[in-house]
Amino acid sequence: MAFSFIQLADPQFGMHAGLSGPDNPNRGLFADLGLNVPRFPKVTGFQYETERYEMAIAAANRLKPEFVVTCGDMCNDKDDPTDEYAELMRITGKLSKSIPMYWVSGNHDITNEPTQESLSRYRKLYGDDLYSFDREDSHFVVLNSTVCQEPSQVWDEWEKQVEFLTSDLMEARGKGSRHIVVFTHHPPFLTSVNEADSWLVLPRERRRVLIDLFVKYGVSHVFAGHWHRNHYSYFGDLQIVATSSVGFPLGNDPSGLRIVKVYDDRMEHEFYGFDELPGSIELE
Ligand SMILES: [Fe+2]
Repeated sequence: MAFSFIQLADPQFGMHAGLSGPDNPNRGLFADLGLNVPRFPKVTGFQYETERYEMAIAAANRLKPEFVVTCGDMCNDKDDPTDEYAELMRITGKLSKSIPMYWVSGNHDITNEPTQESLSRYRKLYGDDLYSFDREDSHFVVLNSTVCQEPSQVWDEWEKQVEFLTSDLMEARGKGSRHIVVFTHHPPFLTSVNEADSWLVLPRERRRVLIDLFVKYGVSHVFAGHWHRNHYSYFGDLQIVATSSVGFPLGNDPSGLRIVKVYDDRMEHEFYGFDELPGSIELE
């Protein structure tokens, strides 16, 4: 039976304030990678993110998807000096109890170089970072892409992830799952599976391990975030979808969310800015 879900990415409470002011040291870093950071006066707090995440949760309550998934970077600063996490959870608490929220870890949630300590902290706040679930006949897998990106301090976590993914995908294929979908924070690559490493994508060495498993077991889509703009790429039949942010955007796409429709024979998805959301999700 057809159903829908909503994908959110990067609500990133506190990022807008973090990028504000004239002297942001990261502006050049973003510009080198083709991401815009406009100059704007210094602000503090997370009012910007509050307004947009409120819109995302209100939209979910109105559109009634089967579930919502948030693909990482829920808060900008893992040390959370201004209660970013409390604000995230205050608003998440308004989500209808009949709509589950699935969290995906991002680099800001567990640092760019995860440690056992940062992973434990994440798991206390959000639950598992490596898991899967089913809806109807479809299978959904949540990965921790920051561990794939930089596992040097938690190598066993990378090995555990490959082991989990292999057995989970084998089982999903074995039971005849109609669609197999992966949620991560980092998209594995931008345009080509062999492209150079950068902090925007997964390093080639481990990217290839994941892509090989995705192809072997027929994963149809990877939904990711991290870039704060929309981007679509392909490897054979596998589509990699990067979704613009709920919070501060870094490209030409506005803040918004993605609606995904899952049919027996296909999946359709579309990104909507918060001022262009449909009144309802129509399934055929
Ligand atoms: Fe990120």
